[in-house]
Amino acid sequence: MHSFRLSIPDLARFSHTTPMTTPSTTPPRPGLSTADLVARARQLGTVVPGFNIPYLPMMQPVVAALRDTGSFGLIMVARLEWEKFESRSLEAIRDEYLRVGDRNYTRLHLDHVPVIDEDDRTVDFLEILGRAVQAGYDSIMVDGSRLSLAENIRCTRQAADLGRAAGVAVEGELGAVMGHEAGPLPPYEELFASGRGFTDPNEAVKFVQESGVQWLSVAIGNIHGAISAAQKDKAKTEARLNIEHLAKIQRATGVPLVLHGGTGIRKEYIQQAIRHGIAKINVATAIRQPYERALKQSVAAAQQAVYDAMLVVIHQDLEIAGTAKQLLAAETAKGR
Ligand code: 13P
Repeated sequence: MHSFRLSIPDLARFSHTTPMTTPSTTPPRPGLSTADLVARARQLGTVVPGFNIPYLPMMQPVVAALRDTGSFGLIMVARLEWEKFESRSLEAIRDEYLRVGDRNYTRLHLDHVPVIDEDDRTVDFLEILGRAVQAGYDSIMVDGSRLSLAENIRCTRQAADLGRAAGVAVEGELGAVMGHEAGPLPPYEELFASGRGFTDPNEAVKFVQESGVQWLSVAIGNIHGAISAAQKDKAKTEARLNIEHLAKIQRATGVPLVLHGGTGIRKEYIQQAIRHGIAKINVATAIRQPYERALKQSVAAAQQAVYDAMLVVIHQDLEIAGTAKQLLAAETAKGR
């Protein structure tokens, strides 16, 4: 059994040497931007994983595992994780990040803020994204994928304008990555074979150009970890990826692509996806379920379970040990 080192709150980590260019109205975001780090991951043929934090005590072992393995990753929270799980609010996550985060290995990302949520409710997404920018998040995501293309472009453009003004990268989504909804999923093989809901490469070009978004989350066979009350403890269906389809989207758009639903995809698909444009990959279920199972014992046991699960993701699934130095080397070069 591995034991992770509990880090002592250390705000000095945030006093980075890189000069800050952020406007004074938003909090400082020291160090290389997440946009630069994701772009660099793409050049180097590696990936930036994002780890969801639906329970605040999960953050510490996630950061510890990244630090102990010299890996770089994003600490993320999605709206449904403070609405339906126990991360409380985007501000609570930011506070925990200030306590245990480490900018030599991590940045803070706001995952899924839907325009229409999984329960069909309209969300004041700009208010939430504005709060995230004010709170110091390094990048944000708007999810307009339940809208028509025109409406998705319109809403994503508003988010992209907000992000540009604050100097934070914005991720949008096109296509249907299923799994957040409460109802049962259609049979996976049927879905995969039909390509129903896959991101259309032509629409993707229009979406990226007209919305001004920096990163595009795509649907290519990936499915979200089931998070509805009935599904959240169940093993995820193993997903496959249509790599040819991904390659078409990459050629058409040219922007870094994001793979949601990172848990339970066979490794060879992940490695091929990284070679064909996936520069950010979201991981939640692989660390949440071990936490929830071990929580019956204690919070400490649950944190240990997260740490152990992180080592599997880092070493076996994504092979990203040591990426922090490679990615942040650009920063050292810049600072010279
Ligand atoms: P998994 O639960 O499959 O890891 O997906 C996470 C995700 O995509 C969060 O945005």
